[in-house]
Amino acid sequence: MKLLAVGSEIFPLVKTGGLADVLGALPRAVAQEGVSTVTLIPGYPSVIAESGSGEILVRFPELQGAAAQIIGTRVAGLDLLVLDAPHLYARPGGPYLDPTGSDWADNAQRFGALARVGADLASGAIPALGFDVVQAHDWQAGLLPAYLRYGGRRGPPSIMTVHNLAYQGQFPADLLGTLGLPPESFTIDGVEYFGSIGFLKAGLRCANAITTVSPSYATEILSPEMGMGLHGLFRERSGALVGILNGLDTKIWDPATDGHLAARFDAHTLIKREMNRMAAQRAAGLLEVDGRMLIGLVSRLTWQKGVDLVLECLDTVRAIGAQFIALGSGDAELQNQLERAASANPGMIGFLKGFDETMAHRIQGGADAILLPSRFEPCGLTQLAAQHYGAVPIVSKVGGLIDTVIDANEAALSVGVATGIQFAPTTADGLRTALRRAANIYADQNVWRKLQINGMQLDVSWSVPARHYASLYRHLANQSH
Ligand code: ADP
Ligand code: GLC
Repeated sequence: MKLLAVGSEIFPLVKTGGLADVLGALPRAVAQEGVSTVTLIPGYPSVIAESGSGEILVRFPELQGAAAQIIGTRVAGLDLLVLDAPHLYARPGGPYLDPTGSDWADNAQRFGALARVGADLASGAIPALGFDVVQAHDWQAGLLPAYLRYGGRRGPPSIMTVHNLAYQGQFPADLLGTLGLPPESFTIDGVEYFGSIGFLKAGLRCANAITTVSPSYATEILSPEMGMGLHGLFRERSGALVGILNGLDTKIWDPATDGHLAARFDAHTLIKREMNRMAAQRAAGLLEVDGRMLIGLVSRLTWQKGVDLVLECLDTVRAIGAQFIALGSGDAELQNQLERAASANPGMIGFLKGFDETMAHRIQGGADAILLPSRFEPCGLTQLAAQHYGAVPIVSKVGGLIDTVIDANEAALSVGVATGIQFAPTTADGLRTALRRAANIYADQNVWRKLQINGMQLDVSWSVPARHYASLYRHLANQSH
């Protein structure tokens, strides 16, 4: 079974969030199920830097204004097809934003090109590479199923995978020709979306199957509140929609072997977490005290993640006598507010601005609790890592957080299966109550330790999800024969 995956991030080459983790981990996971994956990604500078030993497989004389080529390479155990198009991707900074923090003005062309090349490859542009299924991840690859449908190409069955509905890739209708889409594609059954071109919408409409990254989120998005304008489409296509939970790459995230940690540990040596706690405290200028709960946040700083609610609840964090450490980057206003909170509470509240893989691991391996008060969360990997690293997740009761955290209610505590704290609704008051609940449980260290150990013993790996993906791929491939 051969799979072509197409997406805009892949760990360890380029990452802004969990999308990269999934694209980096799924190939190895499904390989165990007999699926071999080749992933098409844009040739950002960090990707090109690793592609030196690759081989040029196809040349495109013209792709959105200049020549481009596909480099086939293998990096970190991943088989990659790198779309080397310097006029589109050889730019400083992250994958999506220009140095002023706005979307690159030509993102439609940049990611339209990715999807179009993906459709070409899926339909045999490299004769030696045949694919049984193609999987498009998020809006950046969203046009791929539309190119297969409208381009007169014969391609394999396609899957549109939704990681984050908040980003849909909407662009002006007059780009239809530039994107090489025929006029007949601009209908409600094609790429048209409220008068614009909707990349994600196009994928959802044209793909043979739709997946998202947790069963609960797959149900939530059928509602107007969570469907972000697409609930009608999800309802219509609910027969083709399935939620498959993400896993954690337990090779990279293994507290017993993790080179990012100040001290490695397992469920029998939780005491060693102290070293990681101290490393995190030191890095954020916190007092190196113990006996106080250390609450961590590792997050993109966006509305989705409820960071504003955390800021509102810092008084409660102080009232329960806890320390707080945040690591994140994103929204400038949230960054400013976290900076202000840290300077107003020296030694007790710390903020590490930026994206820092090592600190992310140390906080997970040292904090007592990890906050995720998300307004919506398709899956979330942070709470998987937290549980695997013995940090108790305090999460809102939404999406994948529902499916992956076992709330410490009386029933779960009495049978000894609880791993974290869930709260609803996702409001400051909800979070305040959850923080107080956490403090009460923390006061009994034996109960707290049980939560930590239960979390560490959960299977958060890719084994089960990989089986689901592999059976979906097989089902689609068989149907098309
Ligand atoms: P999302 O993809 O919505 O951001 P996930 O929980 O699925 O949420 O994945 C987030 C990933 O990004 C995790 O691997 C997390 O450790 C990582 N991450 C988020 N913020 C940072 C940061 N500031 N520094 C390092 N890693 C981060
Ligand atoms: C998204 C979601 C997150 C999910 C990740 C990987 O960015 O916000 O919940 O875990 O993609 O699927």
